[in-house]
Amino acid sequence: MKEKGNVKLTFTVPSNRIMFLSNILMGYDGMALLRTLDAKRGSVEVMVSRGLEDRVMEIIESLDLKKDRVLGGRKKFYIVTMGCQMNEYDSEYMRRVLLKKGWEEASSLEKSDMAILNTCTVRKKPEQKALSLLGRILHVRKKRPHMLVGVVGCLVEHKAEEIISKFPNLDFLISPGSISGFENVLEELSQGKKCVILRDPTKLPCLPQKEAKKASVTAYVSIMQGCNNYCTYCVVPYVRGPERSRDPKDILNEIRLLISEGVKEITLLGQNVNSYSYGDKRRLSFPGLLRLISSVEGLERLRFTTSHPKDLSDELILCFKEIPILCNHLHLPVQAGSNKVLSLMGRNYTKEHYLKLVEKLREAREDIAITTDMMVGFPGETEEDFQETLDITRRVGFDIMFSFKYSDREGTEAFHLTPKVPEEEKANRLLRLQELQREITTQKYKALEKKICEVLVEGRSKDGLHYMGRTSTNKIVNFLSQSDLTGRLIEVYIEEALNNSLRGRIITRE
Ligand code: 5AD
Ligand code: SF4
Repeated sequence: MKEKGNVKLTFTVPSNRIMFLSNILMGYDGMALLRTLDAKRGSVEVMVSRGLEDRVMEIIESLDLKKDRVLGGRKKFYIVTMGCQMNEYDSEYMRRVLLKKGWEEASSLEKSDMAILNTCTVRKKPEQKALSLLGRILHVRKKRPHMLVGVVGCLVEHKAEEIISKFPNLDFLISPGSISGFENVLEELSQGKKCVILRDPTKLPCLPQKEAKKASVTAYVSIMQGCNNYCTYCVVPYVRGPERSRDPKDILNEIRLLISEGVKEITLLGQNVNSYSYGDKRRLSFPGLLRLISSVEGLERLRFTTSHPKDLSDELILCFKEIPILCNHLHLPVQAGSNKVLSLMGRNYTKEHYLKLVEKLREAREDIAITTDMMVGFPGETEEDFQETLDITRRVGFDIMFSFKYSDREGTEAFHLTPKVPEEEKANRLLRLQELQREITTQKYKALEKKICEVLVEGRSKDGLHYMGRTSTNKIVNFLSQSDLTGRLIEVYIEEALNNSLRGRIITRE
């Protein structure tokens, strides 16, 4: 049997079943061959013609082998990521660990041998969605009993006991602060351990090198974990723990690694990057870190998220003036326009302070895009307070706004605050706010018509016909191209502004 077109599966089976399995596979007339690696331990290798692996798996499952025993067998994983960029980063970390260990990414959940659900719990809706997705994954496992199922992310920290009591057959649970222990969890599973739970804080993860494959143009790099702010509505400090800043050496190494893989644009991640602080005597602050990173060779663009307005210093604003590769975009969540509500939220700034910051940012970079998060219906928010939210929305003119109805989260201070705003009122305010923001966003996009924008090409767009890239202000641009310009910074003439994207024509010579 030639190596090409074959799949190698390795298993540990009860030693007294090796002969039995070998006899069955012999019936496949050379299309599946068994080799004993270690008779005592029951370790075997099966070489099977591509396409027949499902059948072989069925046979093995019918031998009543437990799923931990097939961990070393056919290896396909599927990760579902919910929530913020921090979760995306953690999923990328697990993806790289698995690829390094010889696993492959499955094209669908139904074809996977390990499913990982990376959860978010910031509002009730994603939490409910996580539980329903988990139900779906476990339903798929009914047909694939060998499948390993793990839950990671914020829900594990917030509600591990509830998840375990509802879904007792999970293989592993890892809280967000412990994700660098993922490799150990895999090790324990391969030794047959059941329901591995990891909730103790571990060191911050470092992305392992990716095994060849297609490089991305953009990537995230986590610079810190956790949050010390305890905004009264927010569950993050409870689930992600206190702030921990990452060693700048690790950050720089990771950025260099990503650049060597073809990455051109890095987005630095943290719940509140502005309070990044590393070292004792010669403390490295966030602006200092930005300057260090900006000198890394091969890096074309730099972004960061998220910034807390209370910590947006003049020194940081100056970076927009002095660091050319820093993109023309800042995500600066304001959350509300009323000073009373901002104070109840524990945000530690006023509407006036926020407006002043916007003014300074626009002095440093005239055309900087400012995006934000806004919440409506916080306990005690009156119609007058909401009018302040509409007012700051108009006055700043955000490029994009992510807006949410306040959602009660157990364990937070605001959970106990009254009076609660009725659900219909919250929905009504959200609708009005989104209507206003839609008009502003449309204007922002329209203003770019007939202008030339620098675009970093990220690859083919969803329709498969166009190429897609982003402006420095983070707006999506679609355009036609004869050649593949992925990874290049090009100039595009904007012909038309659509709802949430731009359509343009290349003016850089191809
Ligand atoms: N209810 C509604 N929105 C929330 N956010 C955080 N906590 C809550 C909550 N309890 C929003 C904030 C934050 C974004 C990530 O999610 O606007 O900036
Ligand atoms: Fe939550 Fe506030 Fe920390 Fe942001 S700054 S993660 S909103 S507590």
